Amino acid sequence: MTTPTQTFEFQSEARQLLQLMIHSIYSNKDVFLRELVSNASDALDKLRLESFRDKDLDADTDDLHVEIAVDAEQRTLSVRDNGIGMTRDEVIGLIGTIAKSGTAEFLKKVKESKDAAGSQDLIGQFGVGFYASFMVADKVTLVTRRAGTSEGVRWESEGEGTYTIEPVEDAPQGTTVTLHLKPEDTEDHLFDYTSTRKVREIVKRYSDFITWPVKMAAEKAEEGAEPALETVNSMKALWARSSSEVEQSEYNEFYKHISHDWNDPLETFRIQAEGTFEYQALLFIPAQAPLDLFMRERKRGVQLYVKRVFIMDDCEALMPEYLRFVKGVVDAQDLSLNVSREILQQDRQIRMIRRRLVKKVLQTVKTMMVENPENYAKFWGEFGAAVKEGLLDDVDNRDSILEIASFASTHDADAPTTLKDYVARMKEGQEVVYYLTGESRSLIENSPHMEAFQAKGFEVLVLTDPIDEMWVDAVSGFDGKQFQSIAKGEVDLDSEDEDRNAEAKKDFADLMTWMTTTLSENVKEVRLSSRLTTSPACIVGDSYDITPTLEKMYRAMGQEVPKQKRILELNPTHPLVTGLRTAHEARPEDEAVAETAELLYGMALLAEGGELADPSRFIKLMAQRLQHSL
Ligand SMILES: Nc1ncnc2c1ncn2[C@@H]1O[C@H](COP(=O)(O)OP(=O)(O)OP(=O)(O)O)[C@@H](O)[C@H]1O
Ligand SMILES: [Mg+2]
Repeated sequence: MTTPTQTFEFQSEARQLLQLMIHSIYSNKDVFLRELVSNASDALDKLRLESFRDKDLDADTDDLHVEIAVDAEQRTLSVRDNGIGMTRDEVIGLIGTIAKSGTAEFLKKVKESKDAAGSQDLIGQFGVGFYASFMVADKVTLVTRRAGTSEGVRWESEGEGTYTIEPVEDAPQGTTVTLHLKPEDTEDHLFDYTSTRKVREIVKRYSDFITWPVKMAAEKAEEGAEPALETVNSMKALWARSSSEVEQSEYNEFYKHISHDWNDPLETFRIQAEGTFEYQALLFIPAQAPLDLFMRERKRGVQLYVKRVFIMDDCEALMPEYLRFVKGVVDAQDLSLNVSREILQQDRQIRMIRRRLVKKVLQTVKTMMVENPENYAKFWGEFGAAVKEGLLDDVDNRDSILEIASFASTHDADAPTTLKDYVARMKEGQEVVYYLTGESRSLIENSPHMEAFQAKGFEVLVLTDPIDEMWVDAVSGFDGKQFQSIAKGEVDLDSEDEDRNAEAKKDFADLMTWMTTTLSENVKEVRLSSRLTTSPACIVGDSYDITPTLEKMYRAMGQEVPKQKRILELNPTHPLVTGLRTAHEARPEDEAVAETAELLYGMALLAEGGELADPSRFIKLMAQRLQHSL
């Protein structure tokens, strides 16, 4: 007895994606074939690996290949592989849902993008795999049988919200995807995909390097005879060919195949290591950060091959976390085909390769800085925040990372600066690199801490990435110059200030002692400042205190951090501060004077973007004073 046809609904994300595909105005519809051939090739890789690992697997691995067939009368195109295939549950799980990380983010962006063309660009960034079929077909049928099992499955859908599943008795091993093509419409970039010539051209262009034969019927068959099959692609691994032979366009297509990105890479580079331990690497830096760059379930992008045989995707042993956006292939000659992730983590040779790859990536970016500053700026904008994680994780390469890093700075609001350029601009006598961390550029630029630095023309780095809060504490310096937060410790920007301060210190001594006691719940010290020119007060930390942002970050991660008390600094030339001193001298016991001190603290907190512990009290006190002034 066979189960009848069952109808299922697509998961809602999948449904939304399909709608995008069906109504797609994406101009390069040809790529649907690249996606299907890429899936077929993956399926063949998987079968080879599995049969290698499981000697008892009852599968046919003699003539693994992809075959494309067209039927002009029926208007169908089918892509068939005799690879791993899928079970019924796999079909439902893999084809009916979208498991890709970043999907939700992607769909949100599509919704936000107002025009249709904008959402089509996003498709290019995200890549939609199998669903790309619905750009060119109004019905898709997939018949598959998992290698080693006996019953096949037919999946069919018009893309509209549901699909059907039914068992198939005599399905061959592997998967056949048949597209029922939409009518040809060249204006809409829908070409005649039943034309053998067109299909061959697409395969040559997008899938030439696929390591399995992609076969098609020979164009000229003898009258009445079955046409013979011909292999259409050259199957040559790009990394095994000499650089001078390979065109950038071929690299680009290969990049798209392995990265699932629909755009060209920003940078392509290779390593040919010879000698006792031989390997080749072909690596890419994408032009755009993936949507999941900072998500937990994201993947790393380097594949491992051993002697041309695909071993694994996402080989974390080959690339550190902070360079997770680098895509590519490493083909090692001397590893066992049986190698596992666990073994790789321990393998000395793999560690050597990794070290070399990291150096090569950093070197490539350094060269890009000099030779193609525009690309470098793009690179840093997309991946800088990830690369900076390396300042914490990869101590050996810290200096190289600092060399290729750039930072927003007060020197030029529009162009980030390198540390080298910052150091070159340092004022005479300046010994440290000044920075301020914070949540946004405007918050930092308008912070009271900035005043004296701006007035005296000292450049300050504006650090707004969450990771900045962490590395600045870990990294000792650049080119012998330490990093110094302008919101921490004492500053003396010139010696004249110092003399004036010594003078002021005496005059304000009583006020400082009294305020330190009055505000002791919130601050550990009140002192005079040489940071301020126009604001009455600001709050600073001791050199080794953690910043309020970092405190907040730790709490958000669920870590217990004791409440940090910081230091209140007052501007001795500000009328509010001198007025407070006079008032305190005259009426030391007056409650209103203590309240003014409290307000001064609250204002300093607000000025740096902090949050008041008791906003309603602050507003009440403020309102009273405003009332008096009327
Ligand atoms: N010919 C096939 N043989 C076996 N499994 C397949 C085949 N085609 C698709 N699949 C399965 O369906 C899944 C979804 O395919 P799809 O092309 O949408 O995504 P993907 O290949 O994982 O990533 P990408 O979006 O980059 O293509 C695949 O991961 C694979 O497990
Ligand atoms: Mg795919």
